[in-house]
Amino acid sequence: MASLTVRKLDDAVKARLRARAAATGRSVEEEIRVILREATGIPSATASDDPDLRNAAFSPTRNLSNVSGLLPKVTMIVGGGIAAYKALDLIRRLRERGFFVRCIMTNAAQQFVTPLSAGALANERCYTDLFDPGSECDAGHIRLARDCDLIVVAPATADLMAKMANGHANDLASAVLLAADKPVLLAPAMNPLMWNNPATRRNVAQLTRDGVAMVGPDTGEMAEAGEAGIGRMAEPVTIAAAAERMLRPQQAQPLKGRRVLITAGPTLEPIDPVRYIANRSSGKQGFAIAAAARAAGAEVTLISGPVELDDPAGVAVEHVESAREMLAAVETALPADIAIFTAAVADWRVAHEGPQKLKKTEAGVSPLQLIENPDILATISNLRDERPPLVVGFAAETEHLIDNAKAKFARKGCDWMVANDVSPGTGVMGGDRNTVHLLTRGEDGEIRTESFSVMTKEQVAAMLIERIILALPGPAA
Ligand SMILES: Cc1cc2nc3c(=O)[nH]c(=O)nc-3n(C[C@H](O)[C@H](O)[C@H](O)COP(=O)(O)O)c2cc1C
Repeated sequence: MASLTVRKLDDAVKARLRARAAATGRSVEEEIRVILREATGIPSATASDDPDLRNAAFSPTRNLSNVSGLLPKVTMIVGGGIAAYKALDLIRRLRERGFFVRCIMTNAAQQFVTPLSAGALANERCYTDLFDPGSECDAGHIRLARDCDLIVVAPATADLMAKMANGHANDLASAVLLAADKPVLLAPAMNPLMWNNPATRRNVAQLTRDGVAMVGPDTGEMAEAGEAGIGRMAEPVTIAAAAERMLRPQQAQPLKGRRVLITAGPTLEPIDPVRYIANRSSGKQGFAIAAAARAAGAEVTLISGPVELDDPAGVAVEHVESAREMLAAVETALPADIAIFTAAVADWRVAHEGPQKLKKTEAGVSPLQLIENPDILATISNLRDERPPLVVGFAAETEHLIDNAKAKFARKGCDWMVANDVSPGTGVMGGDRNTVHLLTRGEDGEIRTESFSVMTKEQVAAMLIERIILALPGPAA
């Protein structure tokens, strides 16, 4: 089978390819695959089976730049130090702040943690090799250096800092750092003797002169038994906060002064003291929206059913169990400017909750009588006094998605409805990606449906918050 070297193509062809790739958010290599598929009449791969398409935020006709504008991109370089294990936590801390994270690992880093772990946590491929034909087809090291808003190096080893200070580029990490035109944040981590060595002192001074930002190192116990001093990597939350300060200057907070109320997760409806009725909601979508709203400057209250997620930074979180508790917490949290109801609230609960654990009896299983739970979305949408000016509902459907969502939209009285397909094959319930349709009303009262291609839940959150910012005219109250 013949192979194609992009480097050898005419300059004009390369320029057109790059322009197309930039417009669609694909790599040049993927763009070539799409062109070849089109030319041979073979249908495009679906978003769910093509990794590059899965990573694209919107279909080409959608406004990709707006979404990426609210979802800053971090290229994270993991160096070969003992603190590399903390870098895995840092990926999560960056993502929960609504950043898109793409990792690079040095060879030494791979002695401590695996690219598989970093890739799984980032939800993105982890890059390791400068001479990777797959990504170098379109000068991948240059793309990795440029296609981001910030480069974070954590842990920044003595070796990586020496390379940076002296302009080396003999592996992917150092080549990306040398080719970068974006701000760089280092989180140094090393033994105190390495940190205090005159060579490291010189390199740190040079990097500071070069405009490189640093967070840490902290003082404390070292991983090596009995050693203490300066050299511990700053904690992941501290590094993530430093990254956030660099990526989101205070003035870029369009929701400052707005109160946003969000529900997330499932509700648990007790049957008896040990059993309950629940659903598969993970809460990830609601938590991502809370983080995105907070990042846009809003004062956010998140009311969550039982989930296994860390509370988003800077968000007031109230944990509840049942639908009735969730409604009470929502009513207490009012007034709000915007209410977004992503929680998968159980429609029913058991009419008579057993005061003791129900026992097996000779007579067989006694049927559970179910009664309807309060409808939180409809209740808040129809409030007379404290109705938030913008109420957004989520419709999770397993069949006839748009029709069912439209019917729900008409019934509930909310302003917008986000419909998502949660049928078993989609992996949406509990997964990291979502395919949504935004239902709004035109001036003529007609329901308008805008469909998006598959996105990460953070990207869905960024899109929704962006739409809200555009829809809320006038200064904050
Ligand atoms: C167990 C172990 C722990 C290490 N920890 C550190 C460290 O915390 N900081 C550091 O600068 N180097 C540390 N090193 C040395 C680096 O791994 C070594 O300098 C390596 O070449 C760094 O490569 P990189 O900068 O490409 O990641 C450690 C080495 C070993 C074997």
